[in-house]
Amino acid sequence: MRLEKYLSDCGIGTRSQCKNYIRQGLVRVNDEVIKNGAVQISRKDAVQFRDEPLVLMENLYYMFHKPAGCICATKDDRQKTVLDYFPKELSKRLFIVGRLDKDTEGLLFLTDDGAFVHRLMSPGKHVEKTYYFKALGKLPENACSMIAAGMDIGDEKPAKPGKLENIRIEEKDLDSAEWISTGHLTICEGRYHQVKRMIKRLECEVFYLKRISIGKIMLDETLQPGEYRALTDEELQMLGMESRK
Ligand code: URA
Repeated sequence: MRLEKYLSDCGIGTRSQCKNYIRQGLVRVNDEVIKNGAVQISRKDAVQFRDEPLVLMENLYYMFHKPAGCICATKDDRQKTVLDYFPKELSKRLFIVGRLDKDTEGLLFLTDDGAFVHRLMSPGKHVEKTYYFKALGKLPENACSMIAAGMDIGDEKPAKPGKLENIRIEEKDLDSAEWISTGHLTICEGRYHQVKRMIKRLECEVFYLKRISIGKIMLDETLQPGEYRALTDEELQMLGMESRK
């Protein structure tokens, strides 16, 4: 990362204040005065400001495999929450990025970085989220085109166009008149019960839902439900964050 960003991430000042401090010769990297804010700094470099060593307070970014049965809330007296899966000291710092229903499984991000939440969640960003669903009923032949056209799901505005892929329709049991439809639905909004309501408009009822990706990031299938891990630098970059290296 650039030296000026490193200083401002350490809480020294705004980027332009830090640029000035660097120009004034107040910053040393590995004991050498550096006057160029664009110089790249890695974790291994020792940075000093006014002869005091700096410690970079890094933000936290986690990928969590949400199990069904817990809610996306920070605290609840009766129900298990997503944050109950994290140690107390850590959970105090974290925000949940977006919401999944209590019975939905899959990929969820947690962070202490408000800008990251904004980047992924603000309506103008249209970050794609893909869900695997199983639903009772037989999807109609024009299901993909209905989803692609943007459908009325009972809100003021129709849902934005989505993508329905990998559809399979099977009989529930041998000779039963009931059908199970499965598939992947990709949407770029995050309305309340959105996937369930879209599938319902296609005359099917979702009974299993799992989010498998957000943007280009896939749920790490080595994570069991209830487990989490830090997002890698590469994953953060794929989500549009600046490199921390
Ligand atoms: N759509 C839903 O219906 N539920 C979720 O949890 C996420 C998207």
